[in-house]
Amino acid sequence: MDTQAVIEQLNECLKHEWTGVAQYSQAGFIIEGVLRQVYAEKFLEDAEESFGHAKLVGDKIAALGGVPSVLRNEVKQSRDILEVLQFSLEFEAKAVEMYNRALELAEGDRALVVFLEDILKEEQDGVDEYTKLLRDSGQHEASQAGQQAGKKVS
Ligand SMILES: [Fe+2]
Repeated sequence: MDTQAVIEQLNECLKHEWTGVAQYSQAGFIIEGVLRQVYAEKFLEDAEESFGHAKLVGDKIAALGGVPSVLRNEVKQSRDILEVLQFSLEFEAKAVEMYNRALELAEGDRALVVFLEDILKEEQDGVDEYTKLLRDSGQHEASQAGQQAGKKVS
């Protein structure tokens, strides 16, 4: 196992988790109207899940001798719930991709593989959940809305 390569990929995962903390928290803070009742808590729980993963991954990076990143990637923002759900699905799908890549690099270290598989399973649960939510909320509009990624909340 190339420890340096693993540390680098884990730091990419960590940056993604920090992004999730900010992105999901903001989505939970700003949601208004009747949907607030359902989604404010859902988004804040997802922010906490990201923070939980960040804690695990940050600790592991330090254990491997690396320096855990304090950076995050661009946060996607919207007041359109379908757009937010689409951003969330994209976020979870990217996490699956990133942990799969980390798993490839961790091959040969059984404990690290198990550690990453546990997180990967939760990321896939996120993909499954947002896929179902979007199916319920109108996939068509959401996929159109998703093409306007990066729009700032105003
Ligand atoms: Fe995560």
